[in-house]
Amino acid sequence: MKKNSIVDFFKILFVEVPSMLFNIVRILMGVVARYGKTGEKIGFFVVGGVVIIGVLLVIGIEGSSTNAFCLQCHPYLAKEFYESPHGKAGVTCADCHIPKNIVGFTKVKLGGLRETWIYLTQPHPTTYKDWYDHYKVKWEKLAYKDNLTESACLQCHGAGKEYPYMKVKFEGINIHEALKVKEKGLSCFDCHYNFVHGYLGWREKMK
Ligand code: HEC
Ligand code: HEC
Ligand code: HEC
Ligand code: HEC
Repeated sequence: MKKNSIVDFFKILFVEVPSMLFNIVRILMGVVARYGKTGEKIGFFVVGGVVIIGVLLVIGIEGSSTNAFCLQCHPYLAKEFYESPHGKAGVTCADCHIPKNIVGFTKVKLGGLRETWIYLTQPHPTTYKDWYDHYKVKWEKLAYKDNLTESACLQCHGAGKEYPYMKVKFEGINIHEALKVKEKGLSCFDCHYNFVHGYLGWREKMK
């Protein structure tokens, strides 16, 4: 279990950034205290507080959507991810795992607090093999339940998007039409599985 990186991360997020903002506001407040009237001072406190909270929220929400953030706790997924077609094409963890609608987005962000708690209190895999052998199956069920839906795929593979699945040709035929994916109401995940995580000849490649 590796704790250092996450400790560093939280130190930056909760100690260094706030203290920097606090110092800026303190200097400005010194100026107001010297020259301003009481009403202006109160107004300044309120505005300052709102600005600080806003900045922290934006840093927290934006920062926690980057690959680097996810890979702090899931480093064993990195190598394979960056060798996969999606990783190479610059698709991010958030593109698939963080829904764009407000309900799904909020649920995942709040779920992240739970993940953090579990990470700090329970054993976590450190190698690809450990993850694959002991966590993968359990977690993928949770992923489908919590955050991973077909609408993520359709952002890029839907009609009119950069890589529409209905136009995919396989051995000369329009494969999804031939398989009647739409008529049968099939989900992408009924057929596409282990195409991002777990597709490498992992026992050989990952120790
Ligand atoms: C193109 C979509 C896509 C991207 C990008 C993606 N994932 Fe996944 N992820 C999936 C799918 C699909 C599953 C479900 C299981 C499977 O097929 O491997 C999954 C499952 C998972 C799981 C649960 C365990 C498992 O593998 O089943 C974790 C943890 C995870 N992803 C983390 C990440 C992280 C971290 C990144 C970024 C480095 C990332 N994912 C990028 C699609 C994606
Ligand atoms: C603070 C450490 C930490 C960070 C950062 C983190 N995770 Fe996780 N993740 C965990 C832990 C711990 C679990 C296991 C949760 C459980 O057992 O219920 C997990 C489980 C998962 C799962 C499978 C289970 C589920 O509920 O979906 C996915 C998918 C996943 N993480 C994706 C991500 C993505 C994407 C990011 C970046 C946006 C991310 N994680 C960032 C610690 C973390
Ligand atoms: C942000 C855009 C984006 C998202 C989201 C996305 N993809 Fe892709 N996908 C791509 C791009 C770009 C490629 C082409 C990569 C290449 O081959 O150059 C690709 C390739 C693929 C391939 C063929 C390559 C392979 O790995 O076998 C499959 C299958 C696929 N996507 C399925 C999915 C599924 C299922 C989802 C939903 C979990 C999904 N994609 C989400 C952009 C995306
Ligand atoms: C009935 C099974 C089935 C379903 C459901 C299905 N696919 Fe496919 N898909 C295939 C097959 C078979 C291929 C061609 C073989 C291959 O490339 O793996 C393919 C190929 C693809 C490719 C191109 C792969 C490449 O190598 O370039 C993409 C992208 C893709 N599917 C996306 C999707 C998305 C997005 C969904 C959900 C909306 C979906 N598929 C649903 C069976 C399915």
